[in-house]
Amino acid sequence: MFDDKVNEFTALAAEYDGFIFGSPVYYSGMNGSLMSFMDRVFFSASAKDPHPFRFKPAAAVVSARRAGTTSSIDQINKYFLHQQMPIISSRYWNMVHGNTPEEIMQDEEGLQIMRVLARNMAWFLKLKEAGEQQGITLPVQEAERKATNFIR
Ligand SMILES: Cc1cc2nc3c(=O)[nH]c(=O)nc-3n(C[C@H](O)[C@H](O)[C@H](O)COP(=O)(O)O)c2cc1C
Repeated sequence: MFDDKVNEFTALAAEYDGFIFGSPVYYSGMNGSLMSFMDRVFFSASAKDPHPFRFKPAAAVVSARRAGTTSSIDQINKYFLHQQMPIISSRYWNMVHGNTPEEIMQDEEGLQIMRVLARNMAWFLKLKEAGEQQGITLPVQEAERKATNFIR
C-alpha cells in the first residue's frame, strides 16, 4: 500500500459533493501526472465503502494551445463514467485555448463555457440535495460485482 497524496486526496474526496478535474493537453491527451494520479485515485477508491466518488457530479475541463482537446476530455470523462458519476455539461466544449493565462483570458467563448459549467454544477448539486431532503435515495448497488473476461 502506497502512502502518498492519493490517499490524502481520496480521504478529502469523501467530504466533497462534486468534482472538476482540469488538465493541459499534452500530445493530444491529459497530462501524464494527472493520468497517473487519477489511475491510482479511482482504482484505490473502488474498494472503499462508502465510495468517495459514486453518484457525485463531475466535469472535465482542458486547456490547450490548439488541438487534442476532445480526446483529453473523453479520457478524463471515462473515470467518471465508470463510477456512476453524473457528468455535468456546458453549452459547448469544456476547453479554453491559449499558451498562457493571458491568452486564455482572450478566449471569451471558452471562459463563457466555464461560467455556464460552474452554474450547471451548482444547479445539479442543489437538485441532488433537494432530492435527498425529499427522501430520494441513491440507487441500490448489486452486492455481487460480475466480472466477465470472455475466457472459456
Ligand atoms: C509536452 C507538451 C505537449 C503538448 N501537446 C499539445 C497538444 O497536443 N495540443 C495542443 O494544443 N497543445 C499542446 N501543448 C501546449 C499546452 O497544452 C499548453 O501550452 C498548455 O497551456 C500548457 O500548460 P502547462 O503550462 O500547465 O504545462 C503541449 C505542451 C507540452 C509541454
